[in-house]
Amino acid sequence: MIITMEALTEREKYRMLTSCIVPRPIAWVTTIDKNGIVNAAPFSYFTGISIEPPLVVFAVERRQGKKKDTVLNIEETKEFVVNVVTVDNVNKMNETSQDFEHHIDELKMTGLTEIPSQVVKPPSIKESPVHLECTLDQIIEIGSSPHSLVIGEVKVITLEDELYDNGRLDMNKLQAVGRMGGRYYVKSESLFELERLDWRKNTI
Ligand SMILES: Cc1cc2nc3c(=O)[nH]c(=O)nc-3n(C[C@H](O)[C@H](O)[C@H](O)COP(=O)(O)O)c2cc1C
Repeated sequence: MIITMEALTEREKYRMLTSCIVPRPIAWVTTIDKNGIVNAAPFSYFTGISIEPPLVVFAVERRQGKKKDTVLNIEETKEFVVNVVTVDNVNKMNETSQDFEHHIDELKMTGLTEIPSQVVKPPSIKESPVHLECTLDQIIEIGSSPHSLVIGEVKVITLEDELYDNGRLDMNKLQAVGRMGGRYYVKSESLFELERLDWRKNTI
């Protein structure tokens, strides 16, 4: 089967791409507006893109032609926190994806607990074990159905002590959840390791 993107509607392209590009990590992003109202929402067009400086990116589409609260808040206050989604908080993450009005504090609304971040004003989510505190690097508008590409620099990572393992996170303990196509999600179970190969050392 050959599927030409030009032949698809916007919805059909979305379905194909989000089921080919899997699994995707989920940035559960907390922000505040200039009055301090807290917002939380998940974004799975998300990844890390560089180490020096340590940059992450997530893409936010428009809702009925208007920028979503997360983007409006980051434009206003230039900071955000990426909270990691795990099996224990995945249902709460889903609750915060609802289209609440701007003045609604989505953490309070969904019964989540805010904790102060170390170096940015938006709070971190207590029910998440890992938080990446970010300052805005830049927002790039892309596409004709515009998406805002939000690029942030990670300034501080806070995590639960027992997850720390010799400069990394313990992947078995973290229990991160990824997004698959449609309504599917994936647990990070059945982990396996692959050694990096080097043809110079005759390892292949
Ligand atoms: C798992 C998951 C991933 C999502 N990923 C995205 C995304 O990458 N980009 C986007 O624009 N919306 C995404 N959404 C939808 C937003 O979370 C939703 O529109 C939310 O209400 C935006 O909130 P805000 O207006 O408070 O910023 C996702 C929803 C879920 C449940």
